[in-house]
Amino acid sequence: MREFNSILVTGGAGFIGSHVIRTLLKERPQANLVNLDALTYAGNLTNLRDVEANPNYTFVKGDIQDKALVTQLFETHQFDAVVHLAAESHVDRSIENPMAFLETNILGTATLLNAAKNAWMGSEGDRCFYHISTDEVYGSLGAEGLFTEETAYDPRSPYSSSKASSDHLVRAWHHTYGLPIVISNCSNNYGAYQFPEKLIPLMIRNIRDERPLPVYGEGINVRDWLWVEDHASAIDVILHRGENGKTYNIGGLNEWKNIDLVHELIRLVDAALDREVGSSLKLITFVKDRAGHDLRYAIDASRIENELGWTPSITFEQGLAATVDWYLKNSEWLDSVTSGQYQQYYETMYSNRG
Ligand code: NAD
Ligand code: TYD
Repeated sequence: MREFNSILVTGGAGFIGSHVIRTLLKERPQANLVNLDALTYAGNLTNLRDVEANPNYTFVKGDIQDKALVTQLFETHQFDAVVHLAAESHVDRSIENPMAFLETNILGTATLLNAAKNAWMGSEGDRCFYHISTDEVYGSLGAEGLFTEETAYDPRSPYSSSKASSDHLVRAWHHTYGLPIVISNCSNNYGAYQFPEKLIPLMIRNIRDERPLPVYGEGINVRDWLWVEDHASAIDVILHRGENGKTYNIGGLNEWKNIDLVHELIRLVDAALDREVGSSLKLITFVKDRAGHDLRYAIDASRIENELGWTPSITFEQGLAATVDWYLKNSEWLDSVTSGQYQQYYETMYSNRG
């Protein structure tokens, strides 16, 4: 097992990153963390309000593509690990504006890799560049089968192809320059602080507000859902015990058809708001399908289970109930992140889907 004293976390003000920061501060009290985040629409410092006064935590606003800034941060903080989460992460946005995905996800990753290589070349001691990726790099499954670490890459959206490119770059820096790396590819996350452009928080918000629930196509696409805090704990385990150069798939064997998940959310939100359970079913609106919509994702997580002993800590039933409860109790957060610019995005996105 490795220990690190100075960790650069990128994208820590986003959904998963904020949970990773909380987990690392709790599990690794010896480590200093620097959170480098550009605070795009998806990054929000209120996600980290509970840790901002922690003496082991520093926030730096900046872009991972800014070579001078990244180099200076390596010099100042002498990082021995990088946990790289910063990315453009939403498939629908990648269809509208692919270039931002190529810039952050590909060029930004390359900038970080170069800075780590330059800082660590010839130095002694444990180092780790940990790249957080997605199961979407493997493409789309039919009714059967699971993605393993050996599944050939077949990304099909601008988002997933930009993430696949970044995975390849990380492996190239390992094989070519000997950079110590690990990669993980995780299934869909859910939980607190997820930006409500993604399925689960978007549906909770719209059920709450009695607005239409836009289900793409026939709602038959399948996603494999993992509680975000379990993803954060898997990241902590892989960072400290993962094998140099290796890839780990992370998932919870928890597949849901979109329409079934929307029904479940309606049940939970109606009950929590003391409405007649099922009264929000009338809000379901089938809209034009996403272009190139991947049918099914499902992860075989046996490597991380067998080799590192990680398994999810809670069931989907528990996680989803806690998630609905969190969004309803944190209406202020939900409303503040969806004001202004997001309203415009929502109107544009969904007015095209009639
Ligand atoms: P998110 O969109 O909620 O957060 C991304 C964060 O990165 C934001 O804080 C944003 O401000 C920051 N960022 C964006 N561009 C930046 C740049 N150029 N420089 C610095 N910071 C920048 O994303 P998320 O859902 O938390 O995902 C985090 C990572 O996990 C991504 O790499 C994503 O591909 C991967 N992932 C996500 C999921 C999921 O279900 N959400 C599943 C598997 C893997
Ligand atoms: P999303 O949360 O965007 O994650 P991803 O596309 O990365 O899996 O979407 C999850 C699924 O829900 C996906 O099949 C698309 C579908 N979806 C809808 O049906 N309606 C919506 O409004 C959104 C945002 C997603």
